[in-house]
Amino acid sequence: MRLQNKVAIVTGGANGIGKATVFRFTAEGAKVVIADSNEEQGLKVLEEVQKRSGIARFVKVDVASSESVQEMVKTVLDQFGTIDILINNAGITNDGLLAKLSEEAWQKVIQVNLTGVFNCTKAVLPVMLEKGSGKIINTSSVSGVYGNIGQTNYAAAKAGVVGMTKTWAKELGPKGITVNAVAPGFCETNMTAKVPEKIMQKIIQQIPLKRLGKAEDIANAYLYLASDEANYVNGTVLHVDGGIVM
Ligand code: NAI
Repeated sequence: MRLQNKVAIVTGGANGIGKATVFRFTAEGAKVVIADSNEEQGLKVLEEVQKRSGIARFVKVDVASSESVQEMVKTVLDQFGTIDILINNAGITNDGLLAKLSEEAWQKVIQVNLTGVFNCTKAVLPVMLEKGSGKIINTSSVSGVYGNIGQTNYAAAKAGVVGMTKTWAKELGPKGITVNAVAPGFCETNMTAKVPEKIMQKIIQQIPLKRLGKAEDIANAYLYLASDEANYVNGTVLHVDGGIVM
């Protein structure tokens, strides 16, 4: 039980990587908050956790709204009394080549993928500062590290996440809080289901391991960084991408 009695918030916990993380963390003894805007899907995940005798709650949240995030954190504190781990995993895409990318698509992705990480971290911070401990794990992406055609907004947000991770690692390390990021490669989730098959096949050819990542591959990386095994890991960006970026 690597997370026995730890309270973990997993944003975007209703689908894909977040869902796999909820299952992995509850199996390791954590009390997990599925914090997602998709209530229908989130409640299904909750039901599945309960079938497996895990402890979880669903809290509806829009990470892009600081009010909504503060409400969510208040609910978590009412339910579980503390917060040990924050997985800033919620994310969206709204792709388009620069020439065609609307300002709306730019704002939407920045609001969720960048401001959302800021909002959630700000909201849990007083609890972690008070305890003098905590683990914050942010989700970047290969796109944020080496760019990706059609993803100006997404790559900017995910590169911004790396900048915030390193800044917070420096600011919060002395307070007992570690901050790290995971940069997933291309994984089989709803997010990549939109990518045409021909492009996917080309991407797979570029991956040394010759397969897409599974949601569980990323959940395992979050688990490591959230566990005591990573107590001396701070400010790192862990690439979990089959070797596509080196
Ligand atoms: P997904 O689309 O399967 O799940 C994302 C979840 O986030 C959904 O449950 C959705 O309802 C939730 N969400 C979206 N906007 C939200 C908001 N404003 N407030 C609260 N929840 C919201 O995506 P996936 O693939 O599981 O992605 C998880 C993270 O991993 C994202 O940050 C994504 O950018 C990142 N990532 C994914 C990659 C992939 O290939 N799937 C590659 C690199 C990074």
